[in-house]
Amino acid sequence: MIGIDTGRNWLKTDRQKKSHPVLGAALPSRNGRDTLAPRSEASPQFVDTEHSPVLQSPPGPQVIIDGREYVYFGGTSYLGLAGHPEVIESACDAVRRYGVHTATSRAGFGNNPPTLEVERLATRLFGTEDAFYFVSGYVGNHILIQNLAGGFHAVFIDELSHYSLNEAACLAGLAVTPFRHRDPEDFRNRLAQNLRSSQRALLMTDGVFPMTGALAPINEYLSVLQGYQSSAVLVDDAHGVGVLGEEGRGILEYLGLWGRVNGCDPEGDAMLCVSGTMSKAIGGFGGVIPGARSFLERARRSSHYFDGASAPPSAAAGATAKALELIMREPGLRQQLRVKAQRMRRGLRELGLSVEDWPTPNIGVQIGGADDMRRIHAGLKAHGILVP
Ligand SMILES: Cc1ncc(COP(=O)(O)O)c(C=O)c1O
Repeated sequence: MIGIDTGRNWLKTDRQKKSHPVLGAALPSRNGRDTLAPRSEASPQFVDTEHSPVLQSPPGPQVIIDGREYVYFGGTSYLGLAGHPEVIESACDAVRRYGVHTATSRAGFGNNPPTLEVERLATRLFGTEDAFYFVSGYVGNHILIQNLAGGFHAVFIDELSHYSLNEAACLAGLAVTPFRHRDPEDFRNRLAQNLRSSQRALLMTDGVFPMTGALAPINEYLSVLQGYQSSAVLVDDAHGVGVLGEEGRGILEYLGLWGRVNGCDPEGDAMLCVSGTMSKAIGGFGGVIPGARSFLERARRSSHYFDGASAPPSAAAGATAKALELIMREPGLRQQLRVKAQRMRRGLRELGLSVEDWPTPNIGVQIGGADDMRRIHAGLKAHGILVP
């Protein structure tokens, strides 16, 4: 995915207004420090109600949008599996055998074979005792926060974190303090201002930031947290799963921290929690939380997604199971992705553009201001090249 980075512009604008893109305006808290309150309206930057383009083909290197074919640099099917013939056939087969969905929760009779197969294969991919598969990556952070609720005194969140993390942070019912994007020193200062060392902090961040491909400095955050006992880091690794690490387990594998995730190392220092999605690199659909069996038992019960929501649709589960199988069968897919992303970065630099070096396929380019970017976007589109 290569993005013309108008996103950073609107975030800057929001910051100048001392307002947060999802959480809304900074409010004085009871103790006089800034905390955040949720805002209910949708962020207008991503919602163009006048003209919503219609994608009329599977996502891939070429797509048809509004009747025209484009070379496509958008979307998140990083390994190109969302339109893979075997994945599509597996989705169709699951619907033929098991209907559209289970029409009951998984605590009822909703454990159909494709859903269980996804969890079996995800357990293998992630090398954990268990994996919880549910309907959307967006709710993964809500599930984790329900699991962790009650154990912490305050939440600290990277100011450019994804909407789902921000919403989940609000669910914790604690003061939520944003810190500067990818800035462990700012996090350290906010911690010192807001917590005593006997209190427990929960830090929330994207693992890979999709607009730039930048990685969160998780080891540095863990160092900062060393002075605060029993704290935790919650990582939304939607864009790292399937892309980073030897086995494709994501940023925490890439950083050598995988052995600690989601209850796998209960004796360790700060707890590390991670949620992922099947809907991006994996090429299937739905959310996933891999981890220790006892951790996931609690997550299933505390969030009620197990007993209060239908199981993922059969097509989603069928597609996801096949995509997981393909990823494990063909680890070369990840290597190819790396090579292509490097080639793309090299090419952009040869054009004189400044491109950051990250081991991810997300490339943010910024040229001039938002108006310049819109003009470039439109010019590329006129030449049949689509970037987000
Ligand atoms: C960081 C992040 N988390 C979560 C999600 C939501 O995942 P899903 O599409 O599986 O609901 C997205 C998708 O845009 C994302 O970028």
